[in-house]
Amino acid sequence: MAEHDVVEVIATKRDRGTLTTGQIDWVIDAYTRGEVADEQMSALAMAILLNGMDRAEISAWTAAMIASGERLDFSGLSRATTDKHSTGGVGDKITLPLAPLVAACGVAVPQLSGRGLGHTGGTLDKLESIPGWRAALSNDELRAQLDEVGAAVCAAGDGLAPADRKLYALRDVTGTVEAIPLIASSIMSKKIAEGTGALVLDVKVGSGAFMKDADRARELAEVMVGLGTDAGVRTVALLTDMSTPLGHTAGNALEVAESVDVLAGGGPADVVELTLALAREMLAAAGHDAVDPADKLVDGSAMDAWRRMIRAQGGDPEAPLPTARESHVVTAERDGVLTRLDALSVGTAAWRLGAGRARKEDPVQAGAGVRWHARPGDRVAVGDPLFTLSTDTPERFDRALAALEDGYTVSAPGTAYAAPPLVIDRVS
Ligand code: URA
Repeated sequence: MAEHDVVEVIATKRDRGTLTTGQIDWVIDAYTRGEVADEQMSALAMAILLNGMDRAEISAWTAAMIASGERLDFSGLSRATTDKHSTGGVGDKITLPLAPLVAACGVAVPQLSGRGLGHTGGTLDKLESIPGWRAALSNDELRAQLDEVGAAVCAAGDGLAPADRKLYALRDVTGTVEAIPLIASSIMSKKIAEGTGALVLDVKVGSGAFMKDADRARELAEVMVGLGTDAGVRTVALLTDMSTPLGHTAGNALEVAESVDVLAGGGPADVVELTLALAREMLAAAGHDAVDPADKLVDGSAMDAWRRMIRAQGGDPEAPLPTARESHVVTAERDGVLTRLDALSVGTAAWRLGAGRARKEDPVQAGAGVRWHARPGDRVAVGDPLFTLSTDTPERFDRALAALEDGYTVSAPGTAYAAPPLVIDRVS
């Protein structure tokens, strides 16, 4: 690889120039090896945040991050592969029912996931509330599980896009997380390296999401769909609402229980709607759209796939889930209609109760979280329970209650409420 001068690379982007593929390959490789220093990469990341990158630059940046590590290959598997990635939301437990549901429809789901940070929960944290379940799988175990069970949700190993791990940690402390080229290349480098044949992106929009407005979410979706397509992964994106949290629970074991309800043919209507919408997209992207996933929730085959998926990773799907030691109920102070339930407030409350972590090495509480008893549009009477807060550490209640204080509105009885659409747009 030809050597470049790092200051010249930074200055090119600072002066709104276009980086060459050679410069990008070199700077990512040199940064991963420690030859380019953190302060130099910070300056480049800030120049990218301020001046952007064109499609060719973003593709090259993504390819260089993929090339920094291993790339899994499931092409020899007995079934096609398809995956989903959510940009993160509150109460977003969709992966849990979705992966076994799609497996029950005949397509394999290799879902390499992360842990939660901040107010959005992580899929691995949720699954780890199941007694015995372990997140780590070797590549051979992952492949065998995909062949035998059809779905695996596990921790992304250190070998996958190591350049992204280093760069993401740097962006986190340098105010450069928000750059769309850097977000898109970060997410897509990991998903492409994971080796899935098809990918559906759930790009969340609203207070509880990374992207607060639909225009920026659409731009991110378009860039990510372009990157997937350029890399030979059939990719589509749904823009979905995250102004209101999904379902009725936010918290690790609470969300597992709600997901099991969906797999048993029940569960909250919005969780079922989004699970089915994403399952249909995943199956279509894998060229396997003759099966209706709704049937697999009714006939029990999605639940069977869930049990096999949990057992394959040491978990006991029949074991009681952990519950928190203490709870506190918030009741309605007036009769009326719940017209607003703010995702960020609920997510922050669940996080403060111990369901999430502030630093990546912090432990999480399996039973902590929030259950909301009403959703926007529901009538409530004075004294009705609105929220149940749960934690093992009751000194956390005050700060969680403070987060919820302005997080909901009970309007006068009879107030009309029109729910916004859950699926806002589709980008392909
Ligand atoms: N998630 C990622 O993996 N990377 C980002 O840059 C943002 C969210």
